[in-house]
Amino acid sequence: MASSPVSKADFIVVANRLPVDLERLDDGTERWKRSPGGLVSALEPFLRSRSGAWVGWPGVPDVEVEPFEDTGVHLHPVPLSAKEVADYYEGFSNGTLWPLYHDVVAPPVYHRHWWEAYVRVNRRFADATAEAAAPGATVWIQDYQLQLVPAMLRERRPDVRIGFFLHIPFPPVELFQQLPWRTEIIRGLLGADLVGFHRPGGAQNFLWLARRLLGLEPSRGAVGVRTRPGVVPNGDRMVRVGAFPISIDSAGLDALAHDPDVQKRSQEIRNELGNPKKIMLGVDRLDYTKGIDVRLHALGEMLAEGRIDPEDVIMVQLATPSRERVEHYQQMRDDIEGLVGRINGQFGKIGHPAVHYLHQSVDRKELVAYFCAADVMVVTPVRDGMNLVCKEYVATRHDLGGALVLSEFAGAAAELTSAFLVNPHDLDGVKNALQAALDVDPAEGRRRMRALRRQVLTHDVDRWARSFLEALGAQETHNA
Ligand code: ADP
Ligand code: F6P
Repeated sequence: MASSPVSKADFIVVANRLPVDLERLDDGTERWKRSPGGLVSALEPFLRSRSGAWVGWPGVPDVEVEPFEDTGVHLHPVPLSAKEVADYYEGFSNGTLWPLYHDVVAPPVYHRHWWEAYVRVNRRFADATAEAAAPGATVWIQDYQLQLVPAMLRERRPDVRIGFFLHIPFPPVELFQQLPWRTEIIRGLLGADLVGFHRPGGAQNFLWLARRLLGLEPSRGAVGVRTRPGVVPNGDRMVRVGAFPISIDSAGLDALAHDPDVQKRSQEIRNELGNPKKIMLGVDRLDYTKGIDVRLHALGEMLAEGRIDPEDVIMVQLATPSRERVEHYQQMRDDIEGLVGRINGQFGKIGHPAVHYLHQSVDRKELVAYFCAADVMVVTPVRDGMNLVCKEYVATRHDLGGALVLSEFAGAAAELTSAFLVNPHDLDGVKNALQAALDVDPAEGRRRMRALRRQVLTHDVDRWARSFLEALGAQETHNA
């Protein structure tokens, strides 16, 4: 990674995190590692294929890093103090907005000093972006941490074209209206030329709020998927509002799954697990929205009822450490690890646990090897904007093997209709779906996987980005 002279960019992604996080090792040295989460998984390969810049936080407090280049992308680090990490990131972003936007599955906390930090940090991102953008540039702002940046940037740079995309669900209006700063958030987003959501329902909620909270006159027609965006007249501008379901680098993952090393590793994983008849797999950030507890409860009951034999069926749960200083996350980690311990205590044998739980992030190749080894992929969020893991699993199964159990409350469920769809609040339903996926007739399994792959391979992240940028009117200018 080379530090580079600050040059102005025609195309800029702005996100809370840079695609790489600075990591401080025990021996005092530092290195950059890939940042966690779906946003980076989706946008990083897309941006690498074009020349562009990325404005974001380097992932640790109190560091000043000069702009630098990483595999063709110009990175512009935005510093945050330890207090700002506590108030803006852990506080307002992840203690207020995250639970509020995920159907209040945990109670959101409303603190005025968290909001004040959110405003201050959003202003800093807007300043850094205004500084980095070339005249007439296209700026694509990402996610709930930066909802005030569109209007702040427009004030500073009326010449740039501004898109905003929300990577998490946009909540029902009754819930959104709990937010003491609801009007400021809607006003902030309306600074964009195009506001994008995963699902038409999110766009529809936003249009309703623009009318109700700001007295504007948005269009009333139904928003489609990648079609028929809504429109909000806002002063002398028209803001468009649309639905653009995000996806993955499907071809890249498909290619990785064909790699003989990955296939060999996949077989090794099966061997290391003792060659059980069936492997169930969960892969998530350790987050309370992901329903990791749901699948563990289902597994525990199925074992207790003798519906599955721990000699035949094992579960692997990979859980990336996430937001470890936020209280809800600490509590949830204790709960999950307690559940794993109880299941293994009751059903495991020496050298043969029923659940293999790794509180770790694994690299891309290793992850694909796990996907290829898994007979049943279990994705049971109680709410998820999209969920990329389920699409990644499907992209790696060129052998048409494996089965996907997917929550109806993930945005991906609207597209992956050939999965075994479940309501994560209905434990018996989850157990039945797991059983059906474990026992699926091979021909029926292949039929389902073929249909899933058709969807994922034809709707990749490039198509998502192109459809958004075309709607923004930016595609022709900034194509690679
Ligand atoms: P979110 O953005 O909420 O974390 P997504 O499912 O959309 O959820 O994206 C998660 C991304 O993080 C995926 O690309 C997935 O492969 C990756 N990921 C999750 N857990 C792990 C893990 N333990 N090791 C490696 N990658 C992981
Ligand atoms: O997709 C939701 C999201 O919050 C992204 O914005 C982020 O990249 C990812 O999850 C990981 O979360 P965090 O950046 O808080 O570790």
